[in-house]
Amino acid sequence: MKLEQRYEGKAKRVYATPNPQEYVVEYKDDATAFNGVKKAQIMGKGEINNAITAHLFPLLERAGIPTHFLEKLSDREQRVRAVQIIPVEVIVRNVAAGSFSRRLGIEEGTPLARPVVEYCYKSDALGDPLINSDTAISLGWATEEDLARIRELSLKVRDFLVPYFAARGVRLIDFKLEFGKTHDGQIVLADEISPDTCRFWDAATGEKLDKDRFRRDLGGVEDAYAEMLRRVTSEV
Ligand code: C5P
Repeated sequence: MKLEQRYEGKAKRVYATPNPQEYVVEYKDDATAFNGVKKAQIMGKGEINNAITAHLFPLLERAGIPTHFLEKLSDREQRVRAVQIIPVEVIVRNVAAGSFSRRLGIEEGTPLARPVVEYCYKSDALGDPLINSDTAISLGWATEEDLARIRELSLKVRDFLVPYFAARGVRLIDFKLEFGKTHDGQIVLADEISPDTCRFWDAATGEKLDKDRFRRDLGGVEDAYAEMLRRVTSEV
């Protein structure tokens, strides 16, 4: 089923398959922070992020957001539609945290009056720098129409996820999305939605249940990821 490796990122590998319109994604336990300066393995992370993404993407699909996801194949693998990743990462923020708080001097935890959509250039070499839509358009990374669609879909993802997590006792502080284009030009949600790519705070205690536990040396990283899998898959 898996043919040659097409791409290796920090957390996943992507393989070609006999069907040119499908890839297999394999989730790794590798964790990096601060643009790869801090590296470690988080035991069980690959399986958990695969399971969380494989749970959420079909729900998003049903909510009207096209995704690359086709099926979960194994603990670490999923079958996805082959896409060309648009090199514009989208960050959606509901509450100030992380680089937004640092950049603007806004205390972490400050609610935002409306969601903030930010774009970054997907480049490990440059550390995913913040850009704006003019930059992406003028450098040919996306068209104006692509960005309008990406923004629309990103806010739709937010509108689905915020109440979904709230019902499971989790505040969705912010998250990062990636989009790709299929062979016929459709823009679909790609990559993953997991504690690696979202900030999750326990609604009752404020405890962090995401990769900030690793980035900030808070301990309990594996437990937080396992707790998020439990909550994401729990019926309410
Ligand atoms: O660090 P920053 O505050 O910009 O991160 C915003 C959100 O995007 C966080 O949920 C973080 O986990 C996610 N993110 C990501 N990949 C990056 C940068 C940020 O998943 N390269």
